[in-house]
This record gives sequence, C-alpha cells and structure tokens, in this order.
Amino acid sequence: MAFKSIKILAILFFLLLASTISQATVFDVKTYGAKPNGDITQALAKAWKDACAAQSPSKLVIPSGTYNLIEAKLQGPCKAPIEVQIQGTLRAPAVVTKASDSWVTIERLDRFTLNGGIFDGQGKNSYGKHCAVQEYCGKLPMNIRYNFVTNSIIRGITSLDSKQFHMNVLGCTNVTFDHVTITAPENSLNTDGIHIGRSTGINITNTNIKTGDDCISLGDGSKQITVVKTTCGPGHGISVGSLGKYPNEEPVEGVFIRNCTLTNTQNGVRIKTWPDSHFGTASDMHFKDIIMNNVGNPILIDQEYCPWNRCKLSVPSKVKLSKVSFKNIRGTSSTPVAVKLVCSGGPGGVPCQNIEIGDVNLAYTGPLGPVTSVCKHIKPILSGKQFPSACAISS
Ligand SMILES: *[C@@H]1O[C@H](CO)[C@@H](O)[C@H](O)[C@H]1NC(C)=O
Ligand SMILES: *[C@@H]1O[C@H](CO)[C@@H](O)[C@H](O)[C@H]1NC(C)=O
Ligand SMILES: *[C@@H]1O[C@H](CO)[C@@H](O)[C@H](O)[C@H]1NC(C)=O
Repeated sequence: MAFKSIKILAILFFLLLASTISQATVFDVKTYGAKPNGDITQALAKAWKDACAAQSPSKLVIPSGTYNLIEAKLQGPCKAPIEVQIQGTLRAPAVVTKASDSWVTIERLDRFTLNGGIFDGQGKNSYGKHCAVQEYCGKLPMNIRYNFVTNSIIRGITSLDSKQFHMNVLGCTNVTFDHVTITAPENSLNTDGIHIGRSTGINITNTNIKTGDDCISLGDGSKQITVVKTTCGPGHGISVGSLGKYPNEEPVEGVFIRNCTLTNTQNGVRIKTWPDSHFGTASDMHFKDIIMNNVGNPILIDQEYCPWNRCKLSVPSKVKLSKVSFKNIRGTSSTPVAVKLVCSGGPGGVPCQNIEIGDVNLAYTGPLGPVTSVCKHIKPILSGKQFPSACAISS
C-alpha cells in the first residue's frame, strides 16, 4: 500500500514536472519569416515581443543556419521566464552604419536563459586601429551587453570577432556563464572577453577565451564573482581594474578565481589601480590553483598602472587593497619578473594590507636573466614554497 502511494505520488510528480516543462510555449523565428542567409532583424524583434508578453514560460528558437542581424534588443521586463535557444549563427554587419554601443542588448530580464548560438561580430575590419590615439574603438559596438539581468544563465554560446568588448555585464545579479567560447585574434585591440561592473553573484565556468585584450576584467562594484575552470590566451590575462580613475567607484568585494589556465598571455592574474586616483577599495580577492604557460607578469599587483603616461606617477593610488591571496600558482613566465607586487605607499598612500602568497612555482628560461620577484610598499604573508623567492627585489 505504502509503495503504491509512493508510486502514485511519483507519477503525479512527474506529470506535474512534465506539464511545467511542456508549458514553455515555443516561438520559432521561422514562423515570423526568418530564413537562413536572410535578414533576421525584424523576425527576431517580433518573436521576442510575443515571447516576452507570454504569461507562462516561453522559448524563442532560432533554428540552424546563418542569419544576418543588424541589431537586437532583447528587453524586459517579461511576464514569465524566457529562454532563447539558438541553433544557428547570427552575423553582424561587417561595416557599422549607425552609432550604437552594442549589437545585441539583453536588458532587464529575470530568469532568462540564453542557450547556444554563434554571435559573429565580424570585427576583422576594425582591428589594427589604435583606440587611444584615434578614439575610434569607443564608437564600435560590443557583441553582447547584459544590463540589469538577474537569476539567469548564459550557456554554450560563442562570441566571435567582436568589434569591441565581446560581453559587458552591468548591474546584473546571480548570472552564470557556462561553457562560453570567446574568440578574436591576438591583435584585436579592446576586445575584452567578459567585462563585469556593478554586478553581484556572477559565475563563469568552463569558459574558453582567446582575444586581444583582457580575457576577463572586473570593474568597480564587482561583488561575489567566481571564475572556475576557465582558460585564457592569447589575451591580456584576468584583471581586477583598472580602478580609481573615476570618483565614487563602488568597492570590489569577493573575487574567486580558481582552477584556471592561462597560455601565452601578456599578464596572468593582476590587480591594477591608477596612481593619483580617487578613493576606492578592493578586498577579499583570491587566486588559486592556476596554471601559467609562458605568461608575462604571471602574478601582478600594479598600483602604478599608468598606460600612455596619462597620469601623475609621483602621487600614490588611493585605492586600498586588502585580503588578497595568490595560492598554488605554477608554470612558466615569459618575463623574468614573475611576481610583481607594487602597492600604494608613501605620503598620502594607502598600503596594501593582508596580502598572502603561498606555493608559487614559476620558471623563466629566457635570455633576460634569472627569474625574480619585485615588491614595493608591501610585506606579504608567506606560506608554502616560493620560487622565485618572495620579494627578491624591494624597490
Ligand atoms: C540572488 O540569489 C539569492 C540567493 O538565491 C537571492 O536571495 C537573491 O534575492 C537573488 N537576487 C536577486 C536580485 O534576484
Ligand atoms: C556561484 O558560485 C558560488 C560558489 O560556488 C555559489 O555559491 C553561487 O550560488 C553561484 N551563483 C550562481 C548564480 O550560480
Ligand atoms: C583544482 O585544482 C586543484 C589543484 O591542482 C585540484 O586538486 C582540484 O581537483 C581542481 N578542481 C577542479 C574542480 O578541477
């Protein structure tokens, strides 16, 4: 009797489950007129409008094939959870005709799922132009912007050759990026993989990033950010910052980078803040179990970050760094200085506090001398083995 009722309960449970799953109403862009090799812009906008207005969970499907997309705004709020499943490729215009800072915008959505698809930004024509000099890059669109998205999953998507940042995450909470692939050539300036700012609870897992700028960069207000099992390279590495350039930046708090591999990147894991900066804080940041393959500056705190000499190096940074750890970081460095910890200090400075280095094993075999480490305004807490030995050079 007891078994029977359990069985009935189980059946009821599965029926309920099945009915909630089958509740997702499908909106196929085909029925809105999208055809492979054609322009999907209007069909996608119409399908999105209907899917977003649905009272029960909905699923927008883009079948296999390549579609030209001028621009997409997947904006909410929507009435119910919504999934966008892309089996094909979306292709951006090769030449930008109107000024827009993103190609695909995903905005004000809760319980959103983006599942699969290739987003080809066709940025090849815009590479090789120097942003800082020509102020050109700022006008180019990013592949995907996520603005104010909550409790959502981005899974199995590929971003190719973005004209600017591949993905920008702003004002988001509880969003997971899983099995994301990002690819652009090494010489593509300003094509950061995933930039996060003013967002809380963002997880990046099983993600592979090859690009011409930072693989992952965390701006002000990044909180509880976890990156695991992610590869980077080529690219400029995984960065916190740069911080301190603007007034009223929000604190960075809770950064956990684990089990990542960096290969042939300009930098490894770094924290960068501007000298002569505004006040700010960044704390509770932990880098652990990381493999470096031929990486420049594998471990780097740079509070004198001053590209193009656009700042006063003589005035210290006012961004306070605390509770930072680098543990079990091993592999090879492409620069003789494998560990560089340059903190804020001197009159008006805010020295780093509670910085821990444990189990570092980084080799350098190039022609520029033996592997070494540099410290400035810092006394790190040491544990485990240190190769190179910690703070071999104090400046
Ligand atoms: C994020 O997730 C936590 C834990 O599930 C939840 O309490 C919180 O309300 C979520 N935040 C938002 C903005 O939905
Ligand atoms: C992100 O990972 C952390 C740590 O593993 C976990 O506690 C949190 O719930 C995850 N958040 C999301 C949005 O999946
Ligand atoms: C992370 O790396 C550590 C050290 O190499 C290893 O023991 C652990 O199993 C790894 N964890 C995952 C989830 O891969």
